[in-house]
Amino acid sequence: MQEKIRLLFIGDIVGRPGMDAVNTYLPGLIAKYEANFIVVNGENISNGKGLNEGEANQLFGLGVHIITTGNHVWDNWKSRPLLASTDKVLRPFNYPYGNPGKGFTFHKMASGEEVAVLQLQGRTFMQTIDCPFRAADKALSMISERTNNIVVDFHADATAEKISMGWHLDGRVSAVIGTHTHIQTADGCILPNGTAYITDSGMTGPYDSVVGMRKDVALKRFMLQTAHKYEMAKDDVKICGVYVNIDPSTNQAMKIEPFVSPAFETEVTL
Ligand SMILES: [Fe+2]
Ligand SMILES: [Fe+2]
Repeated sequence: MQEKIRLLFIGDIVGRPGMDAVNTYLPGLIAKYEANFIVVNGENISNGKGLNEGEANQLFGLGVHIITTGNHVWDNWKSRPLLASTDKVLRPFNYPYGNPGKGFTFHKMASGEEVAVLQLQGRTFMQTIDCPFRAADKALSMISERTNNIVVDFHADATAEKISMGWHLDGRVSAVIGTHTHIQTADGCILPNGTAYITDSGMTGPYDSVVGMRKDVALKRFMLQTAHKYEMAKDDVKICGVYVNIDPSTNQAMKIEPFVSPAFETEVTL
């Protein structure tokens, strides 16, 4: 019997607090789920903007196999040579031709089974890049020559666009996992044709914040409607993500389990 693919996917890691949370909690999560494939989103590691080679190597040292990114990877000039030099750090596949980096890659499990990771980015409220749905079709035609165990990170802002991608890929990939909004959604499920789906896997970083940013800066941006320098928050740090169990004999997901650690406080005890 083929070994199951036990995927741990960690949502957007924000800054040094997010990296500290990965350091603290990832080993325990790997042990708890007996994870054998680790994917993280690293678009916000360097003070909110992209990641550099040293940060990528720290994650690989913790057992991470593939790092996905997103729109903020382009804000950091040190990310570009990293994207150009390794296929273990991805950027969304549907950016225009000429940008460095790759949008999908393959990982060989210890059992010899291959699994692909594909990253796409939405267009609603974001850059007007190539159509992610047609890009997905094009990428799958290339990836499926090697494997049908396919994990998709859909980095998008609009809930409806993300759900649409879930339906577009249901039964064609093993998982569609949303990133970018930094807030985990409560809709983790297995779609009718066997694809694990969640609109957003959530942020790994400081929650005493506005999506990782200092609260006072975020409020100024909204209340004054002018630019204010982004500054990282640092307190109430959590790790967020999903565990997905994939059966390589069918390429379908058997289970999706979102997690947030430590859990949110929902009750005050006097
Ligand atoms: Fe992000
Ligand atoms: Fe993003």
